[in-house]
Amino acid sequence: MRFLSFLNVVCAAAAAAAGQVSNHHNHPSRFQSECESLKPKIQAPNVHVHSVTYVPIGTNISMANVPATCSSAAQEVVSTFEFCRVALNVTTSSRSQIFMEAWLPRNYTGRFLSTGNGGLGGCVAYGDMIYAAGYGFATVGTNNGHFGDTGVFFHNNPEVVEDFAYRALHTGVVVGKRIVKKFFPQGYDKSYYLGCSTGGRQGWKSVQRFPNDFDGVVAGAPAFNFINLINWGARFLTVTGTTGSDSFVTEQQWQTVHQEIMRQCDHLDGATDGIIEDTDLCQPIIETIICNSTQSPESGTCLRGTEAKTVNAIFEPTYGIEGKLLYPRMQPGSELAASHIYYTGAPFPYATDWYRYVVYSNPNWDASTWTLEDAALAEAQDPHEISTFNPDLSPFAAKGGKVLHYHGLEDPIISSDNSKLYYKRVADTMNLSPSELDHFYRFYPISGMGHCASGNGAGNIGQGSDTFAGDNPDDNVLLAMVRWVEDGVAPDFVRGAKSNGSAISYRRKHCRYPKRNRYVGPGSHTDEDAWVCL
Ligand SMILES: *[C@@H]1O[C@H](CO)[C@@H](O)[C@H](O)[C@H]1NC(C)=O
Ligand SMILES: *[C@@H]1O[C@H](CO)[C@@H](O)[C@H](O)[C@H]1NC(C)=O
Ligand SMILES: *[C@@H]1O[C@H](CO)[C@@H](O)[C@H](O)[C@H]1NC(C)=O
Ligand SMILES: *[C@@H]1O[C@H](CO)[C@@H](O)[C@H](O)[C@H]1NC(C)=O
Ligand SMILES: *[C@@H]1O[C@H](CO)[C@@H](O)[C@H](O)[C@H]1NC(C)=O
Repeated sequence: MRFLSFLNVVCAAAAAAAGQVSNHHNHPSRFQSECESLKPKIQAPNVHVHSVTYVPIGTNISMANVPATCSSAAQEVVSTFEFCRVALNVTTSSRSQIFMEAWLPRNYTGRFLSTGNGGLGGCVAYGDMIYAAGYGFATVGTNNGHFGDTGVFFHNNPEVVEDFAYRALHTGVVVGKRIVKKFFPQGYDKSYYLGCSTGGRQGWKSVQRFPNDFDGVVAGAPAFNFINLINWGARFLTVTGTTGSDSFVTEQQWQTVHQEIMRQCDHLDGATDGIIEDTDLCQPIIETIICNSTQSPESGTCLRGTEAKTVNAIFEPTYGIEGKLLYPRMQPGSELAASHIYYTGAPFPYATDWYRYVVYSNPNWDASTWTLEDAALAEAQDPHEISTFNPDLSPFAAKGGKVLHYHGLEDPIISSDNSKLYYKRVADTMNLSPSELDHFYRFYPISGMGHCASGNGAGNIGQGSDTFAGDNPDDNVLLAMVRWVEDGVAPDFVRGAKSNGSAISYRRKHCRYPKRNRYVGPGSHTDEDAWVCL
């Protein structure tokens, strides 16, 4: 909803320029004819251009090639600005190719941007593309080497895995930059990246392996430490057991657990407002809700000892066969959403796909047989270093690159503790304190944000069109990155907005790690000035 009001502003601005824009009804504008003559100029070995289309304002952009497993929201995009749309395939090996699009806006600002993907997708991030292209970025997005949010295309095809690990994004950047130079004679000045989840991992892969691809990277909720994220996802079933087993915690019991966690932890930041500002301070003692002699676990209002043990195991790190830390705990506060994702008593589909189609090449592999031996084997494979956990960022830092990393503290899919683990590893490996890392790497834990978006608090930070909260760079991570790269003004904090329908209920500043947010008053907890970063 918020984004719609933003679009209205853009549409009004576009209407003001209608003198030029309406020309295409009579005779094509120069922009349109240049677009329509672009196709032969971008032919190249390994490149197969499907179409080059001029897109006027108000066009219902049809999403040919979007499979049903890609979210429908991303398929309903209406253009709010003029652009030239290029769709192509690029061959990446004898057995693989990527599909990609480049959206070249008439109001080009001289900036290049690549979007990323999500899950095991497979889906071009049209929502992110229209968001960035609407700000005048020449924007590219790929299908990450296969269509659809599924691992089946990895089966017996390591080339598709390689595309997914790093090659699709990098190829899209190389080819996309070439297309931009063919279309805009001035080329591009600065290059950016915006992505979350798998998109966050892709952004980090680029920082680690292709330090020259981008000047500024915005990477949210990264699916890095990827193999152990998969292992963590596979482990939940072994902890919860199936529905009805002694260890299984019901959805209603999770609500009780959540209430107890909030009772113990919500106030630790000084404000009892339903939002945990620093999950590190939250070390819940679950035994307080073990049923007494007059309570029944069936009521959902308390737990058996076996069930408390399950909850504890979820809030403990996962260690491998030799006691090696594989993945940190799930951060407390996310359990209501996570109970529908990880604690259902059923296997986690992404983990199952990875084991079936990559680790064992066996579509019949049974997720209930998973053990730490499997985890060790999967980790040893780590194809193309898809783990994306290399903590040495020296080349990226040396060339002056900037990375803005954020992670929702209510993320029910990827634990924000893993982002903290990475930050510390970078600091330890590079021998840099936070104030030194600040020159090129800033990390913002975002209270009240779920997985990349929707949570209970001020989680709208302009990370995409659905989370638009204003054009002030303080409220918008993409524009904050532009300001950092181009004006040298680094973001001190990231301000999030809590939306209420089409209005903003309140804003809250999120502190740069390792600082933590503390309510000091005198205003109410919805007053952004009533908080300090300590
Ligand atoms: C595009 O740029 C023109 C001229 O700079 C401006 O008048 C117009 O409002 C812009 N349109 C959009 C959609 O931003
Ligand atoms: C755009 O096209 C799709 C698919 O044909 C259709 O479902 C949708 O209603 C259209 N949206 C608008 C705004 O016309
Ligand atoms: C483009 O590549 C995708 C795989 O990324 C493939 O599914 C699709 O069939 C290709 N399209 C064409 C026209 O070759
Ligand atoms: C058991 O717990 C309930 C809920 O806290 C309480 O009302 C009840 O008095 C307790 N019963 C005993 C025997 O402690
Ligand atoms: C949402 O906005 C409406 C109208 O502005 C207001 O009455 C309501 O209290 C708001 N709700 C919250 C949770 O802020």
